[in-house]
Amino acid sequence: MKIGIIGAGYVGLVSAGCFSEYGYKVTCVDSDIEKIQLLNNKKIPIYEPGLADLVSQNIDKNRLFFNNKLDILIGHDIIFIAVGTPTARRGDGHADLKYIYQVTRQISEILEKNKNTLIVTKSTVPIGTGKEIVKIISESRKDLIHGKDFHIASNPEFLREGSAIEDFMRPDRVVCGVSNQYSENMMRELYRPLNLREAPLLFTDVKSAELIKYSSNAFLAMKISFINEMSDLCEKVGGDIQSVAKGIGLDNRIGPKFLHPGPGFGGSCFPKDTRALLATFKDNNIEPTLIDAVINFNEKRKIRMVDIIESCFNSSIKNKLISILGITFKPNTDDIREAPSLVIIPELISRGANVKAYDPAIKESSKKLLEFKNVVWCSNVSEVVKDTEALVLLTEWNEFRGLSPDFIKSNMKNPVVIDLRNIFDKEIMKNAGVKYRGIGFDRDNI
Ligand code: UGA
Repeated sequence: MKIGIIGAGYVGLVSAGCFSEYGYKVTCVDSDIEKIQLLNNKKIPIYEPGLADLVSQNIDKNRLFFNNKLDILIGHDIIFIAVGTPTARRGDGHADLKYIYQVTRQISEILEKNKNTLIVTKSTVPIGTGKEIVKIISESRKDLIHGKDFHIASNPEFLREGSAIEDFMRPDRVVCGVSNQYSENMMRELYRPLNLREAPLLFTDVKSAELIKYSSNAFLAMKISFINEMSDLCEKVGGDIQSVAKGIGLDNRIGPKFLHPGPGFGGSCFPKDTRALLATFKDNNIEPTLIDAVINFNEKRKIRMVDIIESCFNSSIKNKLISILGITFKPNTDDIREAPSLVIIPELISRGANVKAYDPAIKESSKKLLEFKNVVWCSNVSEVVKDTEALVLLTEWNEFRGLSPDFIKSNMKNPVVIDLRNIFDKEIMKNAGVKYRGIGFDRDNI
């Protein structure tokens, strides 16, 4: 089976690496020539644990190829579309499908009669996109018949940044939206290597598969917002959000995951996908009560974090020197897209604080992009906490978990720890004389 993947972004690259690891011949195409050159030199443009080795090994085994010309995919059995679907600039939250439709037109030029090419969307695409792809191809290639010369399927990806390979190789489920028996057979064959792992393969229609992806992300985003809101309540009325999360998570119907309170969800998926789902509801004249609330709550949450930080300083952070630990939207990635830090740091600065920051994976280009003009960037933890008056933990990188109260007390001007991910033990901090402020529990020492 020859597989083509269009788009060497997160999803495309991880899928290409993993499918080639199954033993398939995979060609990954991207119009970005520089990126393709990097990849051919076994250099990975993103930070993802294990990906560099996976790509490099499969290039060596002659199973994984990178190219910037899409017509290299002529004659391939399956062509995945894995290009970006960012929020459209026009501001109403819709996903921008221009890259999807651009590559669809290019694919239509290379399709061959009687070849039965299966075109699969792996990008997150709104309901109806599969149908639109069929329409575009059928209009530009009158000689081709859908269901005979080419087929369409939807195979949304559920991998998380930072654990993408494990998520791909050991998925909770694989969702295949198919339009006919041929597509189903091909998808079954493609995922046969997962049989031993007994990963459930769910077959459904294309539209349902498209919606499953959005519903999954929106539901997880709602779960996070729910626990964040409960965390606010704990702060007012007492109770410890960690215990509350544990207590409700033990109910199998709820489950323990995605119940960690924090500064709000970020990243390249939840914010964009909840907005796009909201737009779909509006397009169809349905009032999107829950999704709307999740989006608004999450936006306000980031500013609320600054209020919490300020409340640790008798209401003013003017001229206070604050260290920020972690900029990325989550650990094990260098991705800062829609990270809470992008709102929290400028807000701290606008309220008069001076900020030092450190993140183990932040890229030079991100620092420039961030326009945090007044931020002093540090290259390690010791540097970032030196002589500061509060430490604000934004991203729960492992290397922060072991910070000891002694280290904090001997390096900071003021041993105040504001832990927006609750990774430290509050009793240990408190007993050692560190002023500790986590989120979601009664505070009595700050
Ligand atoms: C998310 C989904 O988890 C994946 O299943 C999906 O495939 C992916 O989006 C996508 O659509 O491509 P990702 O954005 O990589 O994956 O990151 P998550 O681990 O889901 O975290 C998202 C945000 O939620 C982060 O800001 C994280 O800090 C926050 N979060 C997560 C919490 O605040 N609390 C939690 O309990 C979990």
